[in-house]
Amino acid sequence: MSIFRNAIVRRAAVAIVLSLPVSAAFAHDNYYQQFGQKPGIKAVVNRFVGYVLADHRISHYFATTDIPNLKAALTDQFCQEEGGPCKYTGPSMADVHQGLGVNETAFNALVADLIKGMDRQHIPLDAQNNLLAKLAPMESQIVTR
Ligand code: HEM
Repeated sequence: MSIFRNAIVRRAAVAIVLSLPVSAAFAHDNYYQQFGQKPGIKAVVNRFVGYVLADHRISHYFATTDIPNLKAALTDQFCQEEGGPCKYTGPSMADVHQGLGVNETAFNALVADLIKGMDRQHIPLDAQNNLLAKLAPMESQIVTR
């Protein structure tokens, strides 16, 4: 069971309960704006990567990683997935993660760090859910064992 599905179902339920009366007034899907455009996405990525590097479950995967490059790539990727004017131009998710030996436990830990970063940055839940839903299909290219 993917943590994405759990997180999305839980958050969608909360969003439905809390937002029904005002949903019409705020009915737009400009997730990039909800993230605070590029500066907001950069801030989320900074927090997210900070949590990952401090997370003893997964920090060792990043021991030799060029962190500024990783942050820039994630910023472009998230910006693109949220409908912003950016393009991720790096290698495919399969190529990047090939040979890292990422398992589902590690994957779930990283997603939890991403959710924590978005929460701490006060990103609205529907924008969070949209990003998680875009990233979810990548799991099969990243988890190799
Ligand atoms: C949906 C989940 C994930 C996404 C969207 C994602 C995305 C990315 C991106 C965009 C890069 C940079 C590619 C580039 O160099 O241009 C990257 C690199 C990397 N990712 Fe992930 N990743 C995910 C999950 C994971 C997980 C679960 C791990 C390990 C626990 C992991 C470990 C790494 C490592 C170690 C690198 C750097 C590889 C290197 O130094 O060459 N990733 N990832």
